[in-house]
Amino acid sequence: MRLTEKVHHILTNHLKEGDRAIDATSGNGYDTLFLAQQVGLSGKVIAIDIQDCAIQSTREKLESAGLIDRVRLVSEDHAVALKKLIVADHEGVAAVTFNLGYLPGSDKSIQTRAESTKAALTASIQLLVPGGCLCVTAYRGHSGGTVEAETVEALMHISRAQGNAVECHQPESSNSPPILWVLRKR
Ligand SMILES: C[S@@+](CC[C@H](N)C(=O)[O-])C[C@H]1O[C@@H](n2cnc3c(N)ncnc32)[C@H](O)[C@@H]1O
Repeated sequence: MRLTEKVHHILTNHLKEGDRAIDATSGNGYDTLFLAQQVGLSGKVIAIDIQDCAIQSTREKLESAGLIDRVRLVSEDHAVALKKLIVADHEGVAAVTFNLGYLPGSDKSIQTRAESTKAALTASIQLLVPGGCLCVTAYRGHSGGTVEAETVEALMHISRAQGNAVECHQPESSNSPPILWVLRKR
């Protein structure tokens, strides 16, 4: 099973009608669409991406599926957007997803970076309800990806020491496979 499918499998068992969820790297909108389907008619999803073209692509996907009313689109750096939600005292969310890296088929220089990823993950954990789930897929095969993946790993170890449940999944491969971290807030 690919890691993207694993994330959907984990969240299918976790999310329920009426939940709130965040896609912190909406890209082409596949994960946002999945989250919107899971939270149902009374749920809400916030989809964040730093690129307007990604937000537009996500909008089109959700409009085609007739689910755009469940989704708020935010074109901004995720660390900034998530901190704003905390300041605004946004209600807790049941799940947050991060699929790190760059938008396939787009400008590869616009990619997630260790520093803002760390800030965004810290804000996400704060926004999760108790029992809430954070899924982070990190890639080590591109420039900057290894440092970012190490930053995520360090943060996950700290979170585990703080009492959160943390799992790590990686496909068997000798060639810098992607890695999925799943955190469940205590
Ligand atoms: C691998 S893609 C995400 C794929 C997406 N989950 C999907 O289902 O299509 C990574 C995305 O992260 C976005 N990104 C990069 N840096 C970001 C940042 N600081 N804040 C928010 N999004 C960012 C990129 O624009 C890109 O669309």
